[in-house]
Amino acid sequence: MQVSVVILAAGQGKRMNSSLPKVLQPLAGRPLLQHVINAARSANPVSIYAVYGHGGAQVQAALAHEDIEWVLQADQLGTGHAVMQAMCVIPDDHVVLVLYGDVPLISSSTLARLTAAAADALALLSVELDDSTGYGRLLRDAKGEVAAIVEHKDATAAQLKIREVNSGLMAAPAGFLRKWLLGLDRNNAQREYLLTDVVASAAKAGIKVVAVAAASAAEVAGVNDKIQLSAAESEYRRQRAEELMTAGATLADPLRVDIRGKTSVGRDVFIDINALFIGDVHLGSGVKVGPHCVIANSTIGEGTEIFANCVIDHATVAQGCRIGPFARLRPGTVMHRDVHIGNFVEVKNTEIGAGSKANHLTYLGDSQVGKGVNVGAGSITCNYDGANKWPTFIDDGAFIGSGSMLVAPVRIGAGATVGAGSTITASTAEGKLVLERSRQITIDAWARPKKLDDEQKAEVIAAAIKSPI
Ligand code: UD1
Ligand code: CA
Repeated sequence: MQVSVVILAAGQGKRMNSSLPKVLQPLAGRPLLQHVINAARSANPVSIYAVYGHGGAQVQAALAHEDIEWVLQADQLGTGHAVMQAMCVIPDDHVVLVLYGDVPLISSSTLARLTAAAADALALLSVELDDSTGYGRLLRDAKGEVAAIVEHKDATAAQLKIREVNSGLMAAPAGFLRKWLLGLDRNNAQREYLLTDVVASAAKAGIKVVAVAAASAAEVAGVNDKIQLSAAESEYRRQRAEELMTAGATLADPLRVDIRGKTSVGRDVFIDINALFIGDVHLGSGVKVGPHCVIANSTIGEGTEIFANCVIDHATVAQGCRIGPFARLRPGTVMHRDVHIGNFVEVKNTEIGAGSKANHLTYLGDSQVGKGVNVGAGSITCNYDGANKWPTFIDDGAFIGSGSMLVAPVRIGAGATVGAGSTITASTAEGKLVLERSRQITIDAWARPKKLDDEQKAEVIAAAIKSPI
C-alpha cells in the first residue's frame, strides 16, 4: 500500500494569543508540526504534504530541514478544502492519510491501524469522550454502521448527546476521496467545505466506513490554546518518564523529569527531581543524576554520579566520574574514566585524562589535560587574549596549585608542580616546581585605618582622584 500523508496546518490558532503560528508552538522544545511529521514518517509515506496558510514563510523556515511538500491554502475554506489542495498531486491508487498539525501526540501504532483499515474503506479515527463539546459526532445507522458525521454546530439536541466523536484524522483511497471532495458544498453552519461530509458520501456510495478507535483520548487531543499545550506537554512528559521507568530507571518523581528528545538509559539509573534532558542523551548503567540538572546531547558513562545543579551540554563522560554540584560542562568536554569535576567548575572544549581532578572554582577551556592531574581551586586557563583562543596542555601527573593563571598557549610538563598563585606565561619543565609570585613582605610601620567623619573622607577622596599616576 502506497501512502500519501496530508497534514492540515493552515489554521491561524487565534486562541494561542501569540505571534508564533499555532503549528510552531513548542511541545517538548520542538514545533507541534515537527511531532506530527515524525508521526507521519512512521507510516512510511511516499510523500508528506503540509497544507499551510497562516505564517507560511515562518512555518516553512522552521521546518526547512524536513523533506516535505508544501501546499498553500490561501483562504481557509474548511478542512475539506484544505485536503483538496493536495489531492491534485496524489495518485488514485495511494491511500491518503489526513493528519492535523495541531494533534501532536498521535502514536505510530494507531496510524498503522488507521491506514491498514483504509485499503478499501474510509477509515476514521474515533474516540469516546465524556465531554464531546466542539467535536463532530459519529452517526450510526440501524445496522450500527457509520453513516455520517455531524459537526457540533450542525447537531440536533439528540445528536449532541453522542459521545463517540471524530478525532479529525482519517485515511481513504485517494481515488474515492477525490471524488467525494469534489462533491462537497458549504451548506452548513460554518459555511465551509467540511472534510467530515465525505463520510456521508462514502456511505451513500456503498463504500464501507470504518471507525478505528484511538488508543487514548490524549493521542488525538488537539492543541488550540496554551492550556491544551501544557496538557500535551504533561502527557508527553508522562510518556517519556514511563519509557525510562520501563527501561529500568528509578525516577524520584516522574512528574518532575522532562525529556525533550531521546534519552536512553542502562540498568539501575537513578534520576532525582527536576531533571531536564534535551536532544540525544545516554545515561549508562548505574548513573545517578542529582536534583535540578540539565543534560543535553551528552553521553554519561557507567556509574558516573552527577550531583545537584549541573548543566551539561555536548559532553562525553566516561565511567566512574563525579560531576558537581554546580558544575558546567560545555560543548566539546570529554572526560575519561574516574575524573572529578567539582563545584563551580566550567569546562569547555577540553579533554581530561583518567583520574584527573578539578574540584573547585576552575575554568578549563580549549585544554588537553592528561591523566592523574590535579587542578587546584580557583585556577583557570586564560584561553582568550581578546582576539584569539589558544590551547593549554597540562601533561600527566601535573599539579596546578590553587589560584594559578595558565596563560595560553602554554604547556605544563608531565609531573610538574605549579606553585599556588602563579601566573604561568611560559611552558614549564617536566617534574619541576615552578613559581611566579612576588616575595612576601612585612610592613612594620603600618597601622589599621581609623574611622573618619564625612568631611575628612571628602578630603581624602578629593586628594586621591586629583592626581592619577
Ligand atoms: C474538526 C472536524 C471535527 C473533529 C475535530 C477534532 C471537520 C469539518 N471537523 O473540527 O469533526 O471532531 O476537528 O478536533 O473537519 N484547517 C486547515 N484549513 C482550513 C480549516 C482547517 O488547514 O481551511 C486545519 C486547522 O489548522 C486544524 C485542522 O485543520 O489543524 C482542523 O480544523 P478546525 O477548524 O480546528 O476543525 P474543527 O472545527 O475543530
Ligand atoms: Ca479544532
